[in-house]
Amino acid sequence: MATASPNPLRFAPSILAADHAALGEGLDIVGELPIQWVHLDIMDGHFVPNFSFGPQTVADLRKRNKDLFFDTHLMLDNPDKHIDAFIEAGSDLVSIHIEPDYDVDATLERIKAAGCQNGIVLNPATPAEAALPFIHKVDLILIMSVWPGFGGQSFIEDTLPKMGLLHEWRETRGLDFRLEVDGGIDLKTAPLCREQGVDTFVAGTAFFKSPDRPAFVQAIEQA
Ligand code: DX5
Ligand code: ZN
Repeated sequence: MATASPNPLRFAPSILAADHAALGEGLDIVGELPIQWVHLDIMDGHFVPNFSFGPQTVADLRKRNKDLFFDTHLMLDNPDKHIDAFIEAGSDLVSIHIEPDYDVDATLERIKAAGCQNGIVLNPATPAEAALPFIHKVDLILIMSVWPGFGGQSFIEDTLPKMGLLHEWRETRGLDFRLEVDGGIDLKTAPLCREQGVDTFVAGTAFFKSPDRPAFVQAIEQA
């Protein structure tokens, strides 16, 4: 890695790994820690083979915690049809996959026009080059290090060079988007991503199962 990220490190726990009959309590666990972000995974049972929760849940979580930065990851076939609902529900950032067939450019612009930060997401098999048309107009690029749909999967090491490449492009072009990783992140895999320039780390299973969550947060955000 040539130089470090231009952004302070952030840890965004995914409440997908919390008890879904008590998501508010999962959010409280995050809110009690000295962190700023939380990651919200939205699944449509079509783009990914699983369901999670929708805008009503996000809105109710927002009522419960007004301070956390809501990092909303849309795993939808047609994000262009649903961004408004997730923005109105209280998202601070909405990230959209670039694999489905819809107008990614226009959707990114609509997110920004609504006063929200925007991001793109790349599946494990999507090459870094596919992000090039968008890297000048996003606040965040999320690299999936597992196939999206389920928590608790193993980190795919083959995705590491893609992180390094995006970091290199960020540097050479003088950009400052956040570089986020999601899937199989724990205290062993996070440093591998950090070495590639990643500054924003999502973890669900490893965080909620950790016997010492404050130490987990500190290890990631103060790497
Ligand atoms: C996967 C989701 C992830 C997931 C990560 O589809 O996008 O955010 O919750 O979970 P872990 O940390 O368990 O891999
Ligand atoms: Zn996610």
